[in-house]
Amino acid sequence: MVLLPGVVQGFKNRNLMRKMIVAGNWKMNLSFQQANSLVHDILRADIPMQTNHLAIFAAPFPYLQNVQSLVSSHSQFFTAAQNCHTGKSGAFTGEVSAFMLQSIGVEYVILGHSERREYFGETSAILVQKLRQALESGLRPIFCCGETRLIRDAGTQNEYVTKQLEETVFLFSPEQAARMVIAYEPIWAIGTGLTASAGQAQDMHAFIRNLIRKRFNASLGEELSIIYGGSCKPGNARELFGCPDVDGGLIGGSSLVADDFLQILQSF
Ligand code: PGA
Repeated sequence: MVLLPGVVQGFKNRNLMRKMIVAGNWKMNLSFQQANSLVHDILRADIPMQTNHLAIFAAPFPYLQNVQSLVSSHSQFFTAAQNCHTGKSGAFTGEVSAFMLQSIGVEYVILGHSERREYFGETSAILVQKLRQALESGLRPIFCCGETRLIRDAGTQNEYVTKQLEETVFLFSPEQAARMVIAYEPIWAIGTGLTASAGQAQDMHAFIRNLIRKRFNASLGEELSIIYGGSCKPGNARELFGCPDVDGGLIGGSSLVADDFLQILQSF
């Protein structure tokens, strides 16, 4: 059988340079024991993954080191923190820095999640400091953007997301941006059961990719992974991931159940 370039039997793969990512954002859920069995169950399934596919567990801080040691022998599984502080170290009781995360082997950090923006007052200015810390510490930011229902209804989502990116990601160099993953998460779809349609997701992802081409360069536009988040689940992952500019998902609720996460991982 002759394989087309970029196509491996049994898998679809549009662009070998781009990473296809499924990241589970556990948020403030699960006990240590539950988290431990979730990761064991997912790793034990040993599902086949194409070389540019990867899975990430964004675990709460107290579980990260354990999850990190569980995934360390699985080359396509990584850990992410759900937040980091704006500084490297110092008298900031209760905070965790990117430097600390890097020192235990964490590879990624979610920044700009709408829950952090809304409940913890994280502005673009704060996010720039966090992005800088993450990059200086060698972490890869998973940077979230996305509009509210009101903005979507007004039809100004493209302008809104452009502003979010101009105030943050676009202030960095192409080399720094190349270490990021963009997560498009329409706020109206997060935890609501409402998902963006494949068409809505594709339109926004293509729009963001075009902005990246224009702000940075064409090859970064091709290479950067843009993942979708907001009620992504086994029933809709295949359709969403089938869109040419959707490179995977940031998964909340469905990342807490091993079978669901595994099904999503196999939805490319
Ligand atoms: P959800 O969360 O999948 O539960 O909608 C996604 C997210 O907040 O990252």
